[in-house]
Amino acid sequence: MQQFFPDTILYGGDYNPEQWSEATWQEDMRMVKLAHVNMLTINVFSWALLEPRPGQYHFAQLDRMMDMLAEHDVYADLATGTASPPTWMSRLYPSMLLVTREGNRVSHGSRQHYCPNSPDYRRKSADLVQQLAERYGSHPALKIWHINNEYGCHNAQCYCDNCAEAFRAWLQERYHSLETLNDAWGTSFWSQRYYHWEDVLPPRLTTTFHNPGQRLDYWRFMSDSLLGCYHIEEEILRSATPAIPLTTNFMVGFKPVDSVSWARHMDIVSFDMYPPNSASIWGTAFSHDLMRSLKGGQPHLVMEMSPSQVNWMARNPHKRPGRMRLHIMQALAHGANGSLFFQWRQSQAGAEMLHGAIVTHEGSEHTRIFQEAARVGGELQRLSEYIANSRVSAQAAVLVDWENWWALEYQPSPSDRLSYVQQLIAHYRGLHRLNIPVDVVAPDADFGSYHLIIAPLLYMLRPGVAENLQRFVERGGVLLTTYFSGIVDQNDHILLGGYPAPLRKLLGIHVEEFDPWPDDMSNEVKITEGELSGVYPCELWGELIHLEGAQAIGTFTSDYYADGPALTVNQFGQGKAYYIATQADPALLSKLSEQLCREAQLSPILASPEGVEVTRRVRPDGQVIYFILNHTGQTQRVSLPAGTFRSLLDDKQITGEAEISAVDAMVLVAL
Ligand code: GAL
Repeated sequence: MQQFFPDTILYGGDYNPEQWSEATWQEDMRMVKLAHVNMLTINVFSWALLEPRPGQYHFAQLDRMMDMLAEHDVYADLATGTASPPTWMSRLYPSMLLVTREGNRVSHGSRQHYCPNSPDYRRKSADLVQQLAERYGSHPALKIWHINNEYGCHNAQCYCDNCAEAFRAWLQERYHSLETLNDAWGTSFWSQRYYHWEDVLPPRLTTTFHNPGQRLDYWRFMSDSLLGCYHIEEEILRSATPAIPLTTNFMVGFKPVDSVSWARHMDIVSFDMYPPNSASIWGTAFSHDLMRSLKGGQPHLVMEMSPSQVNWMARNPHKRPGRMRLHIMQALAHGANGSLFFQWRQSQAGAEMLHGAIVTHEGSEHTRIFQEAARVGGELQRLSEYIANSRVSAQAAVLVDWENWWALEYQPSPSDRLSYVQQLIAHYRGLHRLNIPVDVVAPDADFGSYHLIIAPLLYMLRPGVAENLQRFVERGGVLLTTYFSGIVDQNDHILLGGYPAPLRKLLGIHVEEFDPWPDDMSNEVKITEGELSGVYPCELWGELIHLEGAQAIGTFTSDYYADGPALTVNQFGQGKAYYIATQADPALLSKLSEQLCREAQLSPILASPEGVEVTRRVRPDGQVIYFILNHTGQTQRVSLPAGTFRSLLDDKQITGEAEISAVDAMVLVAL
C-alpha cells in the first residue's frame, strides 16, 4: 500500500494562482521554498476558466502552473476541477441544478450547485477529466489526482426528478421487486404501499415523518450517487494514469458520505479538518484515527487545515501561537504522512478573502503565521526520513457504522438528543487519555488483531455483525456496548423477541424498557465494589434490565428501576461483554476504560499528565518513534522507558524524563 504515498512527508496547501498575476506566481515560488513546501493543490475551482465555452478548452494557464511547479520541484496535487460547473452550464442544462427537499431549484453563484445524478453534469465533468488526464497524465509535477472536492459539502442531498429516477433504479437494483421494497420499507403502515415504481419518490417535503426505510435508503442512495460521480472520474484516471494515486478530500465526521465504503476506491485517504479553538484534543485525535483506519493503517493525508482562522463560523478567532504546529504534529502522531493548508495565498476577492492563509494580505514572509508555517516545514523535512515509512498500529477499536448513524438519528426517535458521533468520541476519550492506540473501524471489519472493542449506540445490526462481535468475545476479546444497541436490522425493522435481540446471549441481559429522559431528568450509577466504586451522574437514558447470565456491576440509584442494572458484564467464551445502559459521565468512562484495558491486557504507550498526548509509530525495522504532544499551557514532564532517546526536532539526547514546554511537541527515537 505504501507505494501510493510519496516517500516523504507532504507539506503545502491549496494554491489558486489563477487569482494572481504571474509576477506574484514567481514570488510564491520564492516563498514556497522558504516554507519548505513540497506539494500544492491546484485547479480545485478552475472549471470555468478551463472551459469558457462548451467544449472549448483553454489549458495554457494550467500548463504554465504545472510547468512552474515542476521547475521548482513542487509536487502537484492536481484537482480535476469538477466541484463547480461553469455558469453557462446552468443555462444550457437547467436540470443540472440541485433541488432542495422543499422543491426549490438552486441557482449558480456560489459553488457545488450541481445535482450528483444529473446526466449533463456527469457527462461534462467526465469530458473535462478526460482532457486533464490526457494532457497532464505524464507531467513531471503530477503526484496525486485530487478528484472533485469535498463531495457533498453543499450538495449532499438533491430531490430533483433526475434523482427520483436514479433512486428508483437504485432501489430496483437493491430490491429487484416492488414486493421486496414494500417489505423492506414496511409499507403496510400509514397506507404507504407501492403498486407502481413511478410512485416511488425521494423523501421530499411531506406532511410529517417520512417512512424510515425510504429515508434510510435515501441516505444510502445519495452517498452512492456522489460515489457514482467519483467512479466516473476514477475510471478515466485509472485507465489513463494507473500509477498516479487517487484521492478525494473527505470532510471530518461528515454524515452524508459513508467514508468506509468510499475508502475502498481511494488510494490515499485525505480529509479536511477545521477544528475550532474549543475543539477537544481527543476529538481531533479521533478524526485522525478514523481516517487512518479507513485504509487499514495506511498513512492518511490532511488535505486542508487553516493555518490561522476560518471565515465561515459566526466568529472566527485566530489559532493561538503554536497551535497550528501542534495540530500538524498531532496529525503525524496519529499516522498522517502529510498536512496541507487551505490556502497558500490569502485571496484578495471572493467569499473567502478573509479566510486565513500562509501568505497573508500583507504579502511577505515576515508574519507570525508564515514564520510558524516555515518552522514546521523545516521540521517535517527533518522528520521525513524517520517517519514516512512508519505506521501506527492499534489493538483497541471503536466501531463506526454510517448506516447505523443514518438510522439512529432518524426522527422521530426515542430522543432527539441521541448523537452518534458525540458518543463515539465520548467513549474514545477514555482510551485516548490512557495513551492507548485506537483504530476506528466498521462492525463487519476483521477483528483479528483487536483485544478490546467499544461499540457505542450500535442500534442497527447489519447481517453478520452480531456474529462478528460474538466470535470476537468468544475467542477472548473484551467488548463494551451501550444503551440502545441491538434494536433493528438493516431495514430499520425492530429485531423482535426482546432487546438487544441478537446480542442478548452475548451480553447476558434483556432490556425490557428503555427510558429516554427530558433535560430535567437524570440518574446515577452506583458501583459498590472494586476499582470502579463510586456514584456517578448519568444522563439522557435509563433502562429496565433483567440479568440473564450477566452480572450487574453498577445499578441506577433512583426512579422505578432504582437498584436495577446500569452497568453489566457477561463472561462469554474466553472473553467478556460489558453493557452500559445509560450515557455515563466522563469520570466513569475513564475508570471503565482503565478496567477494560487491564482485562484486555493493553497498556498505555507511556503515562502522561492530563492534556499531554503520547502516541507511537513503528518503522519497518521495528524502531519505535514516540510523539509527545503537550496541548496544555504549562511545561509538563513525562517519564520515558529505560534507555537514551534522540529528540528529532531539536537533535538533543534525553534519558529518564522528557520535559516538554507548553504547546509543544517532541518526537523521540531510541538510540
Ligand atoms: C473547504 C473547501 C475549501 C475552502 C475551505 C475553507 O470546505 O474545500 O475550498 O472553502 O473549506 O475553510
